[in-house]
Amino acid sequence: CGIIGYIGDRAACEVIVKGLKRLEYRGYDSAGIVTEDGGKLHIKKGAGKIDELTGKLGLLEMPGKRGIGHTRWATHGVPNDINAHPHSDCTGKIALVHNGIIENFAELREELLKRGHTFRSDTDTEVIAHLIEEELKSEPDFEKAMRKALLRLKGSFALGIIYTGEPDKLYFVRNESPLVLGIGEGENFAASDVPAFLEYTNRVVFLDDREYAIITKDSWVVKNLDTGEVVEKPVKEIGWTLEMAEKAGFPHFMLKEIYEQPRAIRDAIHGNADAIRTVAEEIARHDKIFIVAMGTSYHAGLVGRYLFQRLAKKVPIVEDASEFRYEFEDLIDEKALVIAITQSGETADTLAAMKLAKKRGAKVLAIVNVVGSMATRIADLTLYTHAGPEIGVAATKTYTTQLTVLTMLAIELARVLGTASEEYLNELEEGLKAVPDLVEAVLQHDEGLKELAEGLRDRKDFFYIGRGISVPTALEGALKLKEISYIHAEGLSAGELKHGPLALLEDGVPVVAIAPSGKTFDKMIGNIEESRARGAFIITLGDSEELRRVSDAFIEMPPVDELLSPIVYVVPLQLIAYHLAVLRGNDPDKPRNLAKSVTVE
Ligand code: G6P
Repeated sequence: CGIIGYIGDRAACEVIVKGLKRLEYRGYDSAGIVTEDGGKLHIKKGAGKIDELTGKLGLLEMPGKRGIGHTRWATHGVPNDINAHPHSDCTGKIALVHNGIIENFAELREELLKRGHTFRSDTDTEVIAHLIEEELKSEPDFEKAMRKALLRLKGSFALGIIYTGEPDKLYFVRNESPLVLGIGEGENFAASDVPAFLEYTNRVVFLDDREYAIITKDSWVVKNLDTGEVVEKPVKEIGWTLEMAEKAGFPHFMLKEIYEQPRAIRDAIHGNADAIRTVAEEIARHDKIFIVAMGTSYHAGLVGRYLFQRLAKKVPIVEDASEFRYEFEDLIDEKALVIAITQSGETADTLAAMKLAKKRGAKVLAIVNVVGSMATRIADLTLYTHAGPEIGVAATKTYTTQLTVLTMLAIELARVLGTASEEYLNELEEGLKAVPDLVEAVLQHDEGLKELAEGLRDRKDFFYIGRGISVPTALEGALKLKEISYIHAEGLSAGELKHGPLALLEDGVPVVAIAPSGKTFDKMIGNIEESRARGAFIITLGDSEELRRVSDAFIEMPPVDELLSPIVYVVPLQLIAYHLAVLRGNDPDKPRNLAKSVTVE
């Protein structure tokens, strides 16, 4: 989602509409604006793209010199007019827009309902407006009331808040969802991303987590959300062009999306905390489980199989959706549960497999990134990956968030079925929460990975090997390389190496070994030695010093439970593929012959 706020002497609606257009790449299923004029809030919003809505709702005719706009990428509640932001409280004095996910919104909503609040939308956002209204009853100081309300929220949020009782202020809050101030002359801005206001100012203040800003026409201040104390913040001048700003300063969307993964994984965890139990209980009722998907989503499905079998002692059949339809038709009945994984929710083969499953009476669960997409309409149940829009054709953050959701599902399923000790499951759950930090640490290797890629730019074949739960990581690493660098690559189980591919190894052929510590680590060392003996250039990923000895290049990974390792280990492979693509002169965002969503079978 995207937020833009303005306060100054211009017509707020004009600045906001332009800003929303610039933010449309962050989400575009609905949009809305609130402005204030003469002590009254004016709200216009609806489902659709900014251009359509501008004419249809008359967005450019809204009065007032302060206001906030929002372009939405739905998380709670389908994209429609009512669920579009801004949302307001019962009195109509507070309006706000929100990016992120409020994890405990159901509980807060319940409490507010009891206190007599009425809700107009299905969103988690509306709850925040009512919560502030509630606090204002006992705390007349708006800032204090707002803080009190916000301290009760669990989850991620970036908020823009306007209150009629304070005629010359706007509030912006950040927690795990980006927000930046734009400092002008006699006017100020706030947005989820710099391009929204870059036309007017390049002087910016980046908010950090758990900080909020109060902006007026001529002033700005940043405070700590927990203590209410002022935080000194530097003003930075940025030299980005508009195009660079859309990519948050990254040269390509793909790189930006790779770097967004810690945030995306956190959102996937927050966004599914409530729903996971019900879905796990539904899965537990079925003996026959199928996972269907294509491309990168199929690799997520393969990781899912390892997770399900190791934790829940259930062995799903994972099949590429285009094959599933023809090979499994007779085996699907009402006892079956089909899990479809698709980031776009529009992949033709996956949709066809889902429809077939429905026709044969199976229950269908979808794991999807795009809210309201076709897959969500076919499925009986949907879990969202909350990665946000992914623009690069090669899937990155949608993959790691699919893995996050599958991990949560496998843990919960094991809990329902009692197939693993509660202690271990809790440990794993804590481990998953730490994964965003581990990914952050891995991203620090970027420079080194780029150097590694420089030395490999002219190689013609790559082999990616892994064992157990790392086999799908090997497949995904190879797929990333093929997709964007156009170098031939194969991913396979390390054990398979001897049964054919070894014949292709000769001096300098890169073999990338995914070798986290775990039950097959020693075997992996053996396979690496075999490749080394044939002159292969060995690149290893792992957390054991022993790998250094057998490697030409060792990518040191943080220690992580083997079951969580696929999320962390794929990141350097994404970066290697990215750098090789760029070094070879390719546009990684738009690889030749490929499309973001393949809507033909
Ligand atoms: C296309 C994309 C891949 C993606 C696959 C499945 O081939 O280029 O990145 O993994 O479709 O897409 P889905 O939207 O179903 O996950």
